[in-house]
Amino acid sequence: MPDKPFPVLVTGGAGYIGSHAVLALLDAGWPVVVLDDLSTGFRWAVPDAVTFVEGNVADMDLVGRTLADHGIGAILHFAGSIVVPESVVDPLKYYRNNTAASRALIEAAVTAGVPHFIFSSTAATYGIPDEVPIREDMPNRPINPYGTSKLMTEHMLRDVAAAHPLNFCALRYFNVAGADPEGRSGQSTAGATHLIKIAVEAVTGKRAHVGVFGTDYDTPDGTGVRDYIHVSDLADAHVAALEWLIENPAESRIMNCGYGRGYSVMEVLDTVDRVTNTPIVRKLEARRAGDPDLLTADNSLILETLPWRPKRDDLSLIVQHALQWEHKLAERRGES
Ligand code: UFG
Repeated sequence: MPDKPFPVLVTGGAGYIGSHAVLALLDAGWPVVVLDDLSTGFRWAVPDAVTFVEGNVADMDLVGRTLADHGIGAILHFAGSIVVPESVVDPLKYYRNNTAASRALIEAAVTAGVPHFIFSSTAATYGIPDEVPIREDMPNRPINPYGTSKLMTEHMLRDVAAAHPLNFCALRYFNVAGADPEGRSGQSTAGATHLIKIAVEAVTGKRAHVGVFGTDYDTPDGTGVRDYIHVSDLADAHVAALEWLIENPAESRIMNCGYGRGYSVMEVLDTVDRVTNTPIVRKLEARRAGDPDLLTADNSLILETLPWRPKRDDLSLIVQHALQWEHKLAERRGES
C-alpha cells in the first residue's frame, strides 16, 4: 500500500511482539502511535519515529483522546497478560487485562469510528486438539484462563463486527520466537518461560541448564512438539492483515500464524547446540501441567488470504537471532 491513509495505534507496542510489529509497520512506511502502560514493556523498545502514549488500554478517556488526536484508522492490539500458569492462579487478572481491557478498547474504537482492528490471539484458544495440524474451524476448548480470556475477545470482535462498521483479523499465534534480524528488538522480559528464550539464556550463562519437561509424550522422541514462528515473520503478517482489512472492509478473518511444521524440545536444543557449537546442559524433568504433546498450525487460510509468505522459516535462524539479542541484553547488564 504505497500511500498510507492514516496512522495506526499499536497497543503493547513496547512489548516483545508489539515492538516487532511497530518495526514492521515503520519499515512498510506506516505512521505509528504506541499505547503501552510499561507494566511489562520497555520505553526503549519504542523507536524515536513513533509517538508514544503511556497508559492502559482500559482507560477509555485516554484511548478516545488518542484515537481522535491522531486520526487513528486501525488498532493493532497486543497489550495483555500472557503467562499461562499465572492465569491459572490469578484468573481475574487475565479476565481484566485481556478480556475486560479489550472490551473497553473495542468500545472506544466503535465510538471513535475506527474501522479496522487486529487482535493478538493464540493457539491456546484450541486447548488440546483432537488432531494436528490444527485448522481454524476445529473446536475451541481452551484449558486455561489465558486461552479463554483471548477467545472471549475473539467473540466480542465477531459480534461487534456484525453490528458496527468495523472489520477485524484475529491472529492465533503458535510459538513465537527469535528477534529482529537487525538487532533492534527482542524478547527482553525477565522471568521468561519460553523454551528458546530459556535455551539462549543458558548459552549466555544466565541459567545453568535447561529443563526438558517430559520425555514420555506421544511424539517421535517423547518430548513436546511445537510450531515455532519467527517474530519478524509474525510481525509482517500483521502488516499484511492490516492492508487486507482496508481492501476488504466487509470481511473479517481469524487465522492461524505458524509455519505448519513442528520441532521437538530435543530438536530445538540440538539446533541451539549446533548454532553455538557447544552443548547446553539438559536436565530431564517431569511434565509441566497442561502441556499438549503436539501443536502445529494448518496455515493454509492465512496463505490463501494474505500475500504474506514466511521469510524466516528456519529454526537455526530463529535461534541465531534469539541468541544475538540475548548477547545484547547480557552486554546491557554488563555481563559480557
Ligand atoms: N519446555 C521445556 N523446558 C522449558 C520450557 C519449555 O521442555 O524450560 C517445553 C514445553 O514443555 C513445551 C515446549 O517446550 O513442550 C514449548 O514450551 P513453551 O513454554 O516455549 O511454549 P508453549 O507451547 O507452552 O506456549 C505457547 C505460547 C503460549 C500459548 C501456548 C499455546 O507461548 O502463549 O503456546 O498452547 F498459550
